[in-house]
Amino acid sequence: MKDLFQFNYEVYASADELSEQDLQLVKAAREVTQTAYAPYSNFKVGAAALLQNGKIVTGSNQENASFPVGTCAERVLLGTASVAYPKTGIKTLAVSYHNLNGSSNKPISPCGMCRQALKEFEDYTQSTIRIILAGMEGKVYVLETVSQLLPLSFSNDDMK
Ligand code: THU
Repeated sequence: MKDLFQFNYEVYASADELSEQDLQLVKAAREVTQTAYAPYSNFKVGAAALLQNGKIVTGSNQENASFPVGTCAERVLLGTASVAYPKTGIKTLAVSYHNLNGSSNKPISPCGMCRQALKEFEDYTQSTIRIILAGMEGKVYVLETVSQLLPLSFSNDDMK
């Protein structure tokens, strides 16, 4: 027997085609790239989330001279959200970036570690996270849930 995993995602030619609410979130993610501390990669990432309580929280990548110590924008955001509004789900998360060494005109997608963290955040807040992936300009992808990015994932349930 073979099983199949597939998902659909929306592709937009630019962020201007999004709803006003989604566009504002992408703009917030673009803006917060300015707060990134990325002297090693020169790759500034910004994340902005609309929470289930209507609040918006943001995050940016924070690097370190000991490279593995650095934290991605998405996990900085999850920590910020958890401290400000404990156990509150995320409705929509937008990710953008400013590549100081090159172009920023196509979507990027969360790294494997962030996919794992985002998936667990979905589980424990019991709220799926819609994700918008964008650069400073160009195409935008919208996925219904971040867990689509991590099929067959390992979770708390597996340890029961
Ligand atoms: N980074 C993020 O913050 N989020 C992503 O989705 C991809 C990568 C950061 C990690 C590192 O500081 C820099 O971007 C280059 O990898």
